[in-house]
Amino acid sequence: MAAVGVALLACACGETPQTAWNPRSEYAAEGLDLFVLIIWMGVIIGVIVEAVLIWAAIHYRRRPGDRLPPQIHGNTIIEIMWTTGPVIVVGYILFVTLPVIFKTQAPAPPASMNVEVIGHQFWWEFQYPDANVVTSNELHLPVGRTANLILHSDDVIHSFWIPALGGKRDAFPGHTNFIWMTPNSTGEFPGQCYQLCGYSHGNMRERAIIQSPADFQSWLTAQQAPAAQPTDPVGVEGGQLLQTRGCAACHTINGTPAQGKVGPNLTHVGSRGTIAGSIFDNNAQNLRTWLKDPPAAKPGSLMPNLGLNDHELDVLVAYLQSLK
Ligand code: CUA
Repeated sequence: MAAVGVALLACACGETPQTAWNPRSEYAAEGLDLFVLIIWMGVIIGVIVEAVLIWAAIHYRRRPGDRLPPQIHGNTIIEIMWTTGPVIVVGYILFVTLPVIFKTQAPAPPASMNVEVIGHQFWWEFQYPDANVVTSNELHLPVGRTANLILHSDDVIHSFWIPALGGKRDAFPGHTNFIWMTPNSTGEFPGQCYQLCGYSHGNMRERAIIQSPADFQSWLTAQQAPAAQPTDPVGVEGGQLLQTRGCAACHTINGTPAQGKVGPNLTHVGSRGTIAGSIFDNNAQNLRTWLKDPPAAKPGSLMPNLGLNDHELDVLVAYLQSLK
């Protein structure tokens, strides 16, 4: 069993970054500690029960010449033992679990950094209200500071889950939910929507990017600036096309007439590592594939196929990539 546990932990650190076995916040660590404790309790009880069962089956097996054993009904001592035993075990689980539930469901500490997390079909929006920054799919947080994620949904029920940071929690339309934790190490940690929310539920991913406080602050400052507009002819043409080709009705690019609120804010889309609900790396080829036919790349995508021709795709990709 220990070998299986070690093997599981070994996988957790290697090929499967989206794991709850590698906690990077106190909230994730508390959840994992409880899980491991309960698993070991189950293993120990299971081994004891199986051992008694096997021993009894062998020791009291039927032998030639055996007569019918005494027929009894009920044994008060055994009845009391197998009633109180499980009550004690479950009572202990309750005793260690309840404080964690109350602690993690309580309002966040007052000095926390608020981030509004809004679920959309099929991407996550992150708003930093104190900094007036809006981004999507990549949640930047500073290490060592408690983050209070205020969860909403713009359409159906989604569930926010980054395993390294802690347990999942639903994002509802018309109701506010919270989840808070303090990231304890820097790095990128993937997650995904955990509530069936439509056609591309499985394509609704996100990642947490935990940075040093200085790196986080410089990221935030860069995000606050309006979009730097390109001056080269291709980029300029792409920028004009974005305003005239319908994109601006759904997307905001701060500092330009594009102020749509349906899709992700693209002010600094060129600075993001991923696009389209974090399912593709952000590079020219993927951006082109995505713009060419969004519902083909992400089934159920609300972003329509605009029927862009090759030249339009080229200049739009160049423009979007310039929005650092
Ligand atoms: Cu959003 Cu599943």
